[in-house]
This record gives sequence, structure tokens and C-alpha cells, in this order.
Amino acid sequence: MDIPENIKQKLENLPIDKHPGSICIANYKGGVGKTTITTLLGYYLANKGKKVLLIDIDPQCSLSLAAGVDPAKVDKTDFTIYHLVTPNKWANIAKVKFSQYIDAVPDIHAPKELKMIRGSFDIDELDKLIIREITQKPNADDTLYYYCKNMLNAFSDFDYVLIDCPPNKMYLTQAMLRACSYFLTVTIPDKISVYGMPRLLKWVKEIPKHEKPYLLGCVLNAVNRAGGYEYGTINQQQATEELYKSIRDQLEPVERKIIDNKPVLAHVPRLDVISRFLSQGANKSAWYELRHTGSDQQSVSEIMMNLINRITKRIEDYAKI
Ligand SMILES: Nc1ncnc2c1ncn2[C@@H]1O[C@H](COP(=O)(O)OP(=O)(O)OP(=O)(O)O)[C@@H](O)[C@H]1O
Ligand SMILES: [Mg+2]
Repeated sequence: MDIPENIKQKLENLPIDKHPGSICIANYKGGVGKTTITTLLGYYLANKGKKVLLIDIDPQCSLSLAAGVDPAKVDKTDFTIYHLVTPNKWANIAKVKFSQYIDAVPDIHAPKELKMIRGSFDIDELDKLIIREITQKPNADDTLYYYCKNMLNAFSDFDYVLIDCPPNKMYLTQAMLRACSYFLTVTIPDKISVYGMPRLLKWVKEIPKHEKPYLLGCVLNAVNRAGGYEYGTINQQQATEELYKSIRDQLEPVERKIIDNKPVLAHVPRLDVISRFLSQGANKSAWYELRHTGSDQQSVSEIMMNLINRITKRIEDYAKI
């Protein structure tokens, strides 16, 4: 059965602009710090007074757990991302009450401007439902894209919507990337991880040009502050050069102009307090430590504020084009 033409048209006729602060945090490579950077960005942006919505689309639910959701209770609600993007919602978009899915962040220390949409351990099951739709109904992938784009637009009260993606090419990840205005990648300074970036960019390049999200840049994470060389790691400058060399040909001219040879937006050190921050759940005393520990080197707070300034500047630059 086809997606009925009237429903397809209805979705296509909804606002065409994307949410201007929608950002997917993505990389094919697993375990490089995508969830860590998404969570840190959410906390620091909200701490600065920005309204931030975190969306967890990874079946591992790491972002939900990092924000303090009790693992036993992740799925104990009808208001997860699973319920929000399940195929029977697509044609009924006008009836979906998007605000019902917005949850408080359980962490008692979290800035009050920070909100979330919970993940679900069943998201890979959802992907099977999506695949069924896509194989049985022509245009269903477009319908999912229009749905996601309009869902993000429904969160227009938020300055930023940050989407933590899984390290694979689920249909939902593809649709969210296509629906977002921007994407940001996170990698670690080893050769295998750095070379993972072009694969992501190649995949984004397959998105129709006028719907493509723009690359904001890359966060080089878990950089060894001591400057030592571990097996397989490369130094910061080498990593930056390798990264640009490997992605240069995949960039759109406008991206090359904005990124201007500088793909790396921040170098985030490998620190125990950062991994504690991610794992502490609903009572993050590490959030206090992160904000208040200074050192002779740049503190994490300074690094994050610089990262936020660079992201904001790149968004402004893209908006001017
Ligand atoms: N800068 C850092 N310093 C110390 N530990 C870190 C840092 N960044 C990430 N980690 C730790 O590395 C592990 C992986 O990080 P994270 O879950 O953010 O990666 P990911 O890319 O989201 O993984 P996945 O691909 O499975 O979703 C976590 O245990 C996290 O606490
Ligand atoms: Mg993750």
C-alpha cells in the first residue's frame, strides 16, 4: 500500500524550514564520546540560560541514563522516542501532542533550562517497523523525514535541540540527520577513529542537496593532556591535519568556506571527572567539580564555553549564506 497522496501532501505542505538550532551529534565509530559531548553541551548551554532539548535515539539509551533516568524505568512510560516516531504517528501528525514527550531531566543538579525526550531500549525494534514501512510503502522514507522535520519544528520554544545518535546507520538516524539543520561529529585522536569520519560524510552526501544538514565541525575527544603517545594515537596537530585531509573532498563548497581548514572545534581532554560526570546519573556532583576545578591548563568549563562560542559563530555564518 502506498502512503496516501493526501497525507504525503499534507506533510510536505507543513513549514519547510528546519529548526534553526537542531544538531545531530553523530559518528559511525562507537565509544568515541558522542553521548559525553552531547550531555556536556546540553548542560553548559542550559547553564548559560539557553533552552535545550536533548533527544536520545540510541537503543543503548546512554544519554537518558547520563541525564539520570533510572535504567529500570527508561521504558516505563508511553512517552519515549519510540512512541513519538512510531509509524502510526506519521500520518496523524496534526494530532500528536509533541509537548507531552518533553521530560524533566532527573539529575537534581541539572540546569533548569535543560529538558529531554527519553530514549527506549526498543528503538532497534522501531527501526524494524520503519524498514517494513519503507519496503512496503513507496515514499515512506520521505514521510518519516517530513515527520521528523516537523516534529523538530514543534520544539521551536527551544534554542537548541541536540540529538545523540547511535554508532550505526539506523533509518531513524538517517531521517534525523536529514531533518536537522546541522551535525557535529566527535572522534578520538587515533587513526582508525579519525578515518571513520569520511564514511559519515559520504553518507550525509547522499541526502538530497537542499535537505542536507551542514557540518559544524568535529570535537577531538579524550585527548591525552600529558602529551604522551599511546599505541595507535596520534598527536593533536597530526589528527587535525589527517581529519581535514580525509573529509575535504566530501564537503560542500559552502561547508569548506565556513570550516575554512579548521575542522576541529574543540580538544576535550581525557579526564576522570568527565567519565564520572557521564556515569553519575541522577545526582551529578561531578557537574559541580567540572565547573569549579581550574588548573594551569584550560579547565573543562573554558573548553566547553569556547566550543559553544564556535558552534554559535558557525551557525551565524551559515545563516548568512
Ligand atoms: N573526555 C573523556 N574523558 C574521560 N572519559 C571519557 C571522555 N569521553 C568519553 N569518556 C568515556 O568513554 C566512554 C564512551 O563514551 P560515550 O558513551 O560518550 O561514547 P559514544 O561515542 O557515545 O559511544 P556509543 O557509540 O556506544 O554511543 C564512557 O565511559 C565515557 O565516560
Ligand atoms: Mg553514545
